[in-house]
Amino acid sequence: MFKHTDLPPSALFLLFFSAYFLLTPIDCASDVSAVSVNMKQMQAIESYMDLNENPCENYYAYACGNWAHQHSSEHYTEATSLIDHKVNKRLIDYFQNYQLQSDANSGNQTYTDKIWLYYRACKHVKERQLQRYLELVRPSAHLDWQLMHQLRAPNTTWPASHFNWLFTLAKLRRYSFGDTLISHVISPKSANASVYVLDLDKPTKEEENKLPSMETIAVILLRVGVPKLRAIVVAKQLHEFERQLQKLHDIDDEHGLLEITLRDLQADMPQMPWRLYVQLVLGHEVGLDYELQISNWNYFLALGEFLKNTKDSLICNYLMFKFLSFLVRDGASSFSKVDCMWDVRTKMDVAVNFLYKQQFYGGDSAAKYEADIERILTSAKHEFAAKLDANAMQLRPAQLQYLKRKLAAMRFNIGNLPSAVDEHFVNAYYAGVHISHKDYYKNHLQLLQLNARREHAQLTTPPASAAEYFYIGDSDSARSCTPFYLFRRNLIVIPYAILQPPMFHINMHDILKMGLLGFVLTHEIIHGFDPTGLSYDYAGNEQEIGERITRNAQFESSLTCLQQIETESVDERIADIVGLRVAFDALFGANATMNARQPSFSAIPAKRLFFLSFAQFFCGNLLTEFTDHDADNVRLQQTLLNFEPFAEEYQCALGVAMNPERKCKLY
Ligand SMILES: *[C@@H]1O[C@H](CO)[C@@H](O)[C@H](O)[C@H]1NC(C)=O
Ligand SMILES: *[C@@H]1O[C@H](CO)[C@@H](O)[C@H](O)[C@H]1NC(C)=O
Ligand SMILES: *[C@@H]1O[C@H](CO)[C@@H](O)[C@H](O)[C@H]1NC(C)=O
Ligand SMILES: *[C@@H]1O[C@H](CO)[C@@H](O)[C@H](O)[C@H]1NC(C)=O
Ligand SMILES: [Zn+2]
Repeated sequence: MFKHTDLPPSALFLLFFSAYFLLTPIDCASDVSAVSVNMKQMQAIESYMDLNENPCENYYAYACGNWAHQHSSEHYTEATSLIDHKVNKRLIDYFQNYQLQSDANSGNQTYTDKIWLYYRACKHVKERQLQRYLELVRPSAHLDWQLMHQLRAPNTTWPASHFNWLFTLAKLRRYSFGDTLISHVISPKSANASVYVLDLDKPTKEEENKLPSMETIAVILLRVGVPKLRAIVVAKQLHEFERQLQKLHDIDDEHGLLEITLRDLQADMPQMPWRLYVQLVLGHEVGLDYELQISNWNYFLALGEFLKNTKDSLICNYLMFKFLSFLVRDGASSFSKVDCMWDVRTKMDVAVNFLYKQQFYGGDSAAKYEADIERILTSAKHEFAAKLDANAMQLRPAQLQYLKRKLAAMRFNIGNLPSAVDEHFVNAYYAGVHISHKDYYKNHLQLLQLNARREHAQLTTPPASAAEYFYIGDSDSARSCTPFYLFRRNLIVIPYAILQPPMFHINMHDILKMGLLGFVLTHEIIHGFDPTGLSYDYAGNEQEIGERITRNAQFESSLTCLQQIETESVDERIADIVGLRVAFDALFGANATMNARQPSFSAIPAKRLFFLSFAQFFCGNLLTEFTDHDADNVRLQQTLLNFEPFAEEYQCALGVAMNPERKCKLY
C-alpha cells in the first residue's frame, strides 16, 4: 500500500440488507465561541471520565468510561465518526433549501448543482435496482450478461464466442473496478515516485474482496430477476470457481516485480491480448514499446490456463456478480439523507471539499488554521529531529542524514485540494459529468468513470508539483475524516473534518491541542519512519538504505518488544508510541516553544490534561472494528503503558497494568 489511512471498515454486503442509519439527523451542538472553547472541551472531557476507575489500572475506563452514556447516537460510535457526522449534518443543512443555479437541461451545471443533484437522486431511491447497473454496463457493446440474456431471450443461446474476459475486465476497469481476476492499479514507480506506471498483479486477498455466502449470492441474483433454481445453481458454481481461483492465488512467485514492454508481455503470454486490453482501458492507442509492470508472473500464466478451460458463461457470471458487489460496496449504504451525503462526499470529493472550504472553512480562518498547523508540525519535526540527533538507535551518519532529510521535506495538504484551487478548477474537473436528477445508478457509474479517467491520466500528464498535487484515490481515502500519510509523496493529508471541535479549535489551549490534533499529526509523521515508511526517501523513492535501518540491532529488538502484546499493525503501534512521545516533548520538553503552563480554566495538572486530551481521540463505545488498527482501548493502553512520563504523572506503582517494568521504545 502506498498510503496509510485510519478508517473504520467500509460498508459491506450486510449493510445492504439492513437499515443502517436512521433518517432523522441529530442535533449537534453549534460551533462553540472562541472564549468558551476550552471550557466546553473541559466539560466534555470531564463528563466522559469515570472517577471510580483507577487510571493506573485501566486508563481507557478512567478517561472514556462514560463516553457512551453521553453519546447514545445511531450516527456515530466514537470520536472520529462524530466529527464526520458533524460534516454530514452541515452539508445536509446547506442543501436543505438549495436552488439549482443552472437550467436543468442546459448542460452547464455548476459543481454545486452536481453535488445537489447527485444527493437528491440518491435520496429518492426507494429500493436499490441492481439490474439498472447491468443495463447500463454490459460485457461489451454487442453482448449482454449471460444471465440477463437468458431472462430476455430464454430460448436462444448466449453467443459465448463474443465474450472475452480480458476485454470485459478492461471495460469494467473504466468504472474503477480493478481487483478481480487481476489487480490493475496506477502506481508510482518504485525508483521514481513522480513517474506513474500501470501495475498488474494478482488480486488482493482482503476479506471484502471475497464472494459473500451462497445464500446472499442467490438472494442478489433473485433480485436482478434470475429464477430461484438457476440462482442457486449459479451461486454454487461461483463458489466453486472462486475456490479454484484461491488455489492459483497460492502459487509461488520467483520473479518479483517485472518491468516489461507490451511486446514482451504478449510474446510470453500469447493467449492474453494485453495490448488491446491496455488500449481499451486507456481509450487510446499504445505502441508495443509501452512499458508496464507486473508481479506474480506465475499466477498470470496459471490464470490464463485455468480460464481457457472454464466455460465463458461461468466467467461472465462471475464478473457480473463481482462487479455488482463492487458497486453495492462502493455505493450508498442506504438512501437516507446521511448515507446519501456520505456517498456524495466520496464520489465527488474534490467538489465537496471545495464547497466545504468555501462555506465552512474559508476566509480568514483558513490562513489562521494553516499557520497553526504549520506551527504544530514545525515544533513536532523539531522535536523528532532532536531525538534523531540523540541517536538512541545508534544509526550511522548516512542513515541519520537520510532520516533527517526526509523529516525536513515532509509536507502537509489541508483538504486534499491543489493550492491554487478555485471554482473554475472544480467546474472543469467535473465538466464531463452530467448528473441526472433521477438516475442514481447512471450518476454513480459516471463518477466512477471520472475517477478512473483521472487516475489513468497520471500516466501521461507531467508530474504535479508539491503545490498542485492532491491525492486521487479510492473511495476509502476520499471518505477519511482523519489525516493520512502518503509514503510516495512524503505528504500528510489533513481532511477538513478534523479541524473542528472536539478535535481541534484554533483557540484551544496548546496542552489540549497537542494531546489531540498534535498527537494525530505526530502519529502521521512517524509513519514516514515506521518499517514500511523507512523504505522511501524524502521524495518517496524506494531506497536500500531505509530497509537496512530496520535490520539494525536496536531497531529489531524494539520491534520484538512491541510485539510482546501481539498486534497485526505494528506500524500503527510505532506511530502511536513514538508519536505520543514527540507530541509530549514538543510541549513539555526542555526546548519547547509551545504554551505548557497550567491553564486557569482547569484545576487538573497540565500533564494530566495532556493525557486526558490524548484519550479523546480514542473514546467511544468500543463497538467499532477497525481494519488497520487495534481496538481504540488497546491502542490507548498500549501507548500509555510504554510511556514513562505517564506513570510518573499518575504516580503508578511499578508493575501495575499501566506501568509495566519493561517498556518499549523506538528512536
Ligand atoms: C446556463 O445556461 C443558461 C442558458 O442555457 C443560462 O441562462 C445560465 O445563466 C447558465 N448558467 C450558468 C451558471 O452558467
Ligand atoms: C421457449 O420454448 C418453450 C418450449 O420449447 C416455449 O413453451 C416457450 O413459449 C418459448 N418461449 C419464448 C419466449 O419463445
Ligand atoms: C524521475 O522522473 C522525472 C521525470 O521523468 C525526472 O525529471 C526525475 O529526474 C526523475 N527522478 C529520479 C530520482 O530519477
Ligand atoms: C535543547 O537545545 C540545545 C541546543 O540546540 C541542545 O543542545 C539540547 O540537547 C536540547 N535539549 C533537548 C532536551 O532537546
Ligand atoms: Zn496510522
